[in-house]
Amino acid sequence: MRVVETIAECRKELSKLRQFGGRTGFVPTMGALHAGHVSLMEICRPQVEISVASIFVNPTQFAPTEDLSRYPRPLEHDLELCRASGVDLVFVPTVAEMYPPLAQTTVSVSTLTTLWEGQLRPTHFQGVTTVVTKLFNIVQPQVAFFGQKDYQQQAILRRMVQDLDQPVKIRTCSTIRESDGLAMSSRNAYLTSEQRSQATQIFRGLAKSESLWQAGERSPAVLEHAIKTTIAEVSALDIDYVAIVDPETLKLLDTIDTGAVALVACRLGTTRLIDNLLLGNA
Ligand code: PAJ
Repeated sequence: MRVVETIAECRKELSKLRQFGGRTGFVPTMGALHAGHVSLMEICRPQVEISVASIFVNPTQFAPTEDLSRYPRPLEHDLELCRASGVDLVFVPTVAEMYPPLAQTTVSVSTLTTLWEGQLRPTHFQGVTTVVTKLFNIVQPQVAFFGQKDYQQQAILRRMVQDLDQPVKIRTCSTIRESDGLAMSSRNAYLTSEQRSQATQIFRGLAKSESLWQAGERSPAVLEHAIKTTIAEVSALDIDYVAIVDPETLKLLDTIDTGAVALVACRLGTTRLIDNLLLGNA
């Protein structure tokens, strides 16, 4: 496995790897890798000849009040996990490499980024779409893998590649969970052991909507209420939003035809946790 820090080295290694042809698959990450990230690399590996990951804690997607400086950066361990997952090339750029002082171009998606996470983190998604576009331009993958865990992010990136005719297919992979249902996240490391057990209630709320759905419930209001009341049983969890939305537009649904997505965001102390569940044929 090669590890490169500059765009020039990355392009050079890629052209060597591509000399015999083959498709390139790409898994962008911010590091602090866990089984969720590893699952993306493992899904990628058998589908392509050349498998590339990136590790870059992207400053432009953090607001000044957010956790950029305390974001975990266990690089050696991350590289071991990439190696064990059969990644061929890891791109680990510096901030200066990705954002030279004169840079002044951004990529932004409009309506989708104003909803949900975008309401609470107004500059976040522009940071994501800009860095992912840059990474796509550098790596030039045919296919890129993202987690369902960040449902709004993958919906925005799907919109972006379609709107800008970026020649890459977006694959969305299932959320990997801890044995008690908590969605794996690099941010779970911030939780105290008490908060860690309280955090499970988010999944209990989502599971409640799933069992109501299985029993035939189709009212978005009823499903939303069930999630909210279940989460509210743990008073330490502050709900930012619970919403039953259209899987593509992320707009609130009055009625559900074939499927929907239940989106949840909560705060637990100073840590924000997001999760979601597909209902029906979403
Ligand atoms: P990061 O949070 O490191 O996540 C990298 C990828 O791993 C994302 O596609 C995310 O959805 C996926 N992922 C995270 N937790 C997961 C889980 N429990 N199960 C499955 N997949 C999971 O998302 C980002 O980084 C950044 O915004 C990035 C796209 C790299 C742009 O900077």
